[in-house]
Amino acid sequence: MKVPFLDLSTQYSAIAKDIEPAVADIMSRCCFIGGSYVSDFERKMEDYLSVKHVSGCANGTDALALALKACGILPGDEVITTPFSFFATAESIASVGAIPVFVDIREEDYNIDPDKIEAAITNKTKAILPVHIFGAPCDMDRIMKIARDHGLKVIEDDAQAIGSEYKGRKAGTLGDAGCFSFYPTKNLGGAGDGGMVTTGSDDLYTAVTAFKEHGSGEAGAKAYEIAYGIKAPVGTGEKKTELYNPYKYYNYLIGYNSRLDAIQAAVLSVKLSHLDEYNANRAKIAKAYFDGLTDKVIRPSYSEDIKPCWHQFVIRSEHKSELCSFLTENGVGNGSFYPVPLHQQKAFNKDNSRICGPSLPVAEMICRQTVCLPIFPEMTAEQIDCVIDTVNRFYEGK
Ligand SMILES: Cc1ncc(COP(=O)(O)O)c(C=O)c1O
Repeated sequence: MKVPFLDLSTQYSAIAKDIEPAVADIMSRCCFIGGSYVSDFERKMEDYLSVKHVSGCANGTDALALALKACGILPGDEVITTPFSFFATAESIASVGAIPVFVDIREEDYNIDPDKIEAAITNKTKAILPVHIFGAPCDMDRIMKIARDHGLKVIEDDAQAIGSEYKGRKAGTLGDAGCFSFYPTKNLGGAGDGGMVTTGSDDLYTAVTAFKEHGSGEAGAKAYEIAYGIKAPVGTGEKKTELYNPYKYYNYLIGYNSRLDAIQAAVLSVKLSHLDEYNANRAKIAKAYFDGLTDKVIRPSYSEDIKPCWHQFVIRSEHKSELCSFLTENGVGNGSFYPVPLHQQKAFNKDNSRICGPSLPVAEMICRQTVCLPIFPEMTAEQIDCVIDTVNRFYEGK
């Protein structure tokens, strides 16, 4: 039997009947950017997360850059983050001209180690950017306390964590801002790129909404007033319609073009109504793996305070490449997230990043050992058994 690493088509077949009429409606009305599908999705997401504001944008990388800019992060500022994540986490910090400062992670859950954060703080530090890696929230009470004690902003990277919880609160509502990705392989994935920023702050919401549309229009004028204390008039009374917004030609800040489009919003709205069921299925698969895999497998260990959304199920092995080859030869899809820690990526060097300490030994070890097993909501019982059986066969005699 073959088990793919991921199967998006089974999920799509089950919900195509709800997605296709919405996409057809958008096509026939030619309302591709903004409009009611986007605002409906943003309001549904505010309800789902219990957060005051959601602002959709083009992708998760932009969500991070928008949130950093909205938090006032400037060139030369330092932002503390994890070396164990997708490149975009640290790239977004560098893209606003700031310096990512890498702090080592915890062996048990692969998340940034709060015990090591304070040693990384300098007078240039302006924010902490924790990543809830593989959908397991970080130790946020500790991180928030450090941030508040030192006057730092906290921007969560929730790209992999939609629906996961920390002490009963959803990821994305724990820091000053939350940044999500709707890349198709995510737990809530679009039919293309998409992202959003969440925040409880009116001012941050205004700034994100301004920056994602070239610093223009009503949000641009408001963000300008908040930033500089100067009132700016918006346009000269032109009429706004569903297809034409004259205010977009009045610009107040230098921003980006980073909007969520209507087709993505329509697809995501349908999938959002199934998200809890999808995440519950992932949790059942994770439990089956915990129960069925031999004790020789090193698995993550999570605090009782969190409810992961199981974006990935990631084990560790001292025989990583041998195990990956064995799984592939036996028809079991697998992944290696992440083979290179961010501080060792060629794109980063001593001029555009910093590490806290002479090396980051835990992250370096974890990168050498991680093997990701298939975990997607539509996996059958036979596929789950096949993964367990194949991994256990590899460990026989080891
Ligand atoms: C942890 C993390 N941060 C940021 C991103 C960037 O999201 P996007 O691909 O939507 O730009 C991703 C996406 O893979 C991610 O996994």
